[in-house]
Amino acid sequence: MNAVPQERRIVTAIPGPKSQELQARRLDTVAGGVGSTLPVFTKRAGGGIIEDVDGNRLIDFGSGIAVTSVGASAEAVVRRAAAQLQDFTHTCFMVTPYEGYVEVCEALAELTPGDHAKKSALFNSGAEAVENAVKIARSYTKRQAVVVFDHGYHGRTNLTMGMTAKNMPYKQGFGPFAPEVYRVPVAYGYRWPTGAENCGPEAAAQAIDNITKQIGADNVAAIVIEPVLGEGGFIEPAKGFLPAIVKFANDNGIVFVADEIQSGFCRTGQWFACEDEGVVPDLITTAKGIAGGLPLAAVTGRAEIMDSVHGGGLGGTYGGNPVACAAALGSIETMKELDLNAKAKRIEEVMKARLTAMQEKFPAIGDIRGRGAMIAIELVKDPVTKEPYAEAAAALAKACHAEGVLVLTCGTYGNVLRFLPPLVMGEDLLNEGLDIIENAFAQI
Ligand SMILES: Cc1ncc(COP(=O)(O)O)c(C=O)c1O
Repeated sequence: MNAVPQERRIVTAIPGPKSQELQARRLDTVAGGVGSTLPVFTKRAGGGIIEDVDGNRLIDFGSGIAVTSVGASAEAVVRRAAAQLQDFTHTCFMVTPYEGYVEVCEALAELTPGDHAKKSALFNSGAEAVENAVKIARSYTKRQAVVVFDHGYHGRTNLTMGMTAKNMPYKQGFGPFAPEVYRVPVAYGYRWPTGAENCGPEAAAQAIDNITKQIGADNVAAIVIEPVLGEGGFIEPAKGFLPAIVKFANDNGIVFVADEIQSGFCRTGQWFACEDEGVVPDLITTAKGIAGGLPLAAVTGRAEIMDSVHGGGLGGTYGGNPVACAAALGSIETMKELDLNAKAKRIEEVMKARLTAMQEKFPAIGDIRGRGAMIAIELVKDPVTKEPYAEAAAALAKACHAEGVLVLTCGTYGNVLRFLPPLVMGEDLLNEGLDIIENAFAQI
């Protein structure tokens, strides 16, 4: 078992000489379009630490973009995946099925919101799950239009690029995009012109007005939204927005899809973020945290909607790979055993208290938001004008990286620093990471 010591250790410059050597090789052979936030090459990782090939140990505030919630080498994930590797690596569920796939679908039926009959289909990536949710909604409703939101992110395939709001780097030069995708306003409280208190109902009214006037509710197959918008800047739609959109969908025969690919599986202190406002989606897409780092994704939803697709209409060679399914069962087992929802809530408590104290000293912190272990700060040049301060986000990230804390940026304006620690991170590491963020502010 790979037990990475749970302590930060910096023994070289970041990146160190061995990482730099590998980076030079990488630049010769890996396509330039594939970026890396921090080119330190990983040797091993687990708990809250990533150890690089030079022996540096970094505090991980990224979890591989919200994936390794149980850590990057969780015992139950490794044990179950290794056992499955010994038995068989692949048959293709569409050729000869296996129990692990069924068990994952049973777990999804149990854990996702709502007590209606549910079914699932498994895929490899988040984008693939979103594409399939749209296919299923279109098949069920016999309608075509798909409604998405400002600041939304849904992936990098053709349809999901079209569903994603931000042009650079995700869409630039990659069009034309799929038709029948329509974007409407989201309740971004911090930047809502009449203030956060009015934002939920006003944004919902605007979105619904746009849908009815510009698309026609009868033409809409699906409304797809992230209950906490991830890449767009960890935007929590203001209270009342999601329930109003769900009601509109229900009243008009539209399939409401919650994209919980980033926010799901204990990340926000609930199994799924939409539970916070009692939202029960018709379909829910999951990936990332579901399988402790192995590629697995799912669409789960009302049995009658899922079963509206003709036999053979859903699938893919690797969808629900047996090793990935075994890893998912290990990941879910770990989440239950360690009560990772409670851990996520505790991370929120620690982080928000520290960040609020920092905000008093550093007015560039315009907003602190997020839930559980999905927390972000939005950086602004001036707290009154709220002009985005992307340079500060980049400089802070760089300063943190140099000190061995891996943080990520996000946001439509590139001015959000986001924190996604593994939920199993010890509180000492969490506080040490926050100390370094605070020092980074003082430095810049
Ligand atoms: C909300 C959301 N949907 C979809 C995706 C796409 O997932 P993948 O990168 O696995 O295709 C992401 C990835 O960041 C995401 O955050």
